[in-house]
Amino acid sequence: MSRTFERGSPIFEDERPLTDDWDPEELPERDEELGQIHNALAPAIRNTGVGPHNMFLFGKTGQGKTAGVEYKLEDLVAAADDAGLNITTSQYNCAGDSSSYHVLINLVERLTGENLNGHPMSKITDAFFDAVTDIGGTVIIVLDEIDNIGTSDEILYSIPRAKSNGNIPDDMHLSVIGISNNFKFRDNLSPKVKDTLFDEEIHFAPYDANQLRSILERRADQAFKEGVLEGDVIPLCAAHAAQDKGSARQALRYLYKAGELASNTGSDVVTEEHVRTAQERIDRKNIEKGIREMTMQDQLSLTAVVALEVESQNPAKTTELYARYKDIATEIKADIRTQRSVRDHLLELDLMGVVNATKKQTGNRGGPHYVFELGSDLGMTLDILSEDSRLGDAIDLITTNRSIEEYLD
Ligand SMILES: Nc1ncnc2c1ncn2[C@@H]1O[C@H](COP(=O)(O)OP(=O)(O)OP(=O)(O)O)[C@@H](O)[C@H]1O
Ligand SMILES: [Mg+2]
Repeated sequence: MSRTFERGSPIFEDERPLTDDWDPEELPERDEELGQIHNALAPAIRNTGVGPHNMFLFGKTGQGKTAGVEYKLEDLVAAADDAGLNITTSQYNCAGDSSSYHVLINLVERLTGENLNGHPMSKITDAFFDAVTDIGGTVIIVLDEIDNIGTSDEILYSIPRAKSNGNIPDDMHLSVIGISNNFKFRDNLSPKVKDTLFDEEIHFAPYDANQLRSILERRADQAFKEGVLEGDVIPLCAAHAAQDKGSARQALRYLYKAGELASNTGSDVVTEEHVRTAQERIDRKNIEKGIREMTMQDQLSLTAVVALEVESQNPAKTTELYARYKDIATEIKADIRTQRSVRDHLLELDLMGVVNATKKQTGNRGGPHYVFELGSDLGMTLDILSEDSRLGDAIDLITTNRSIEEYLD
């Protein structure tokens, strides 16, 4: 029988607080980081000759970097209105841009409506500074997810140097806030950029289970009807997200999905079982998406980690993983890369969260090295890798004596 669509819900009061684009009214778990942002922005309102400091915010995904900056900039703009100061902020997400050139083209288009694609960099940079000069006063440009520009990081150098290079008048201020969840990008920034931008480096450490719990509780209070959440629902979502990346976004997804499962099955309470099902579905989807988007070499490096995980030999050093990687690559007739390249692939996988890399200091031989282990669920990862036509054979070999089902709990 076909179901009818119904208005209202016995579960949800308002679903918006469970979505990613909801602006939290407060972020008490980030008091310290917000305080640092505050101090860096404060010169803009003091108005005693210097502008806000440039900042670089970094930390893993879902840590409130974007939400935190948005929150403080709203405060700043309100304070500027009260003080009668001309402060303009522009929050730009670089997700679709692969270089400083593209970012500048889009910033110019946003500020002037003119698209300068195809023009030389110098013309676009001039147009950008002209647009900023027209605005005047204090201008703050937020470049979110800035890691997308890779090594083409000139913009992070040119904005902070704008005044000393004579690109904007002396009586105005221009500053930049870079945000990234990619630690490698931060480490690989050119020395010139590090020099100018790293005065204020603000680190957002991953949330622990308690912090995630209080974040979820505040949002759940607004989102759910009173009394529909069974006691352990929020602690379970928080604990599972904390074990993974400590991401508030992920914790919220578990909670929202659990609520939807309850709603879709006509239940008028959200149970721990709903949370478990929600977690499983979301985790599986994440790993599937991650693995599908990987290069063949990433997949091979991951298969090596999985092989050692099956044999309980992790955490393993690069040399150990490299030996296994070569066997697997030979087995499926794939290109064999250098050990260094495989290590870089493993570090990429760490960024995606499928593998965990830990830096170790070697005592006698000096110099740091990494050890790796699987970051995602073993059974799920085996299952997904085995669906690949080429890697499937390698996975069969890895699990020769046991079926994948035995690893799936
Ligand atoms: N302390 C907090 N209180 C309430 N909500 C929070 C808090 N921290 C994060 N959130 C929420 O979690 C989600 C993810 O936060 P945000 O988008 O700011 O993460 P991010 O650090 O920018 O991650 P990414 O690197 O992936 O862009 C958002 O919905 C945000 O509102
Ligand atoms: Mg963000």
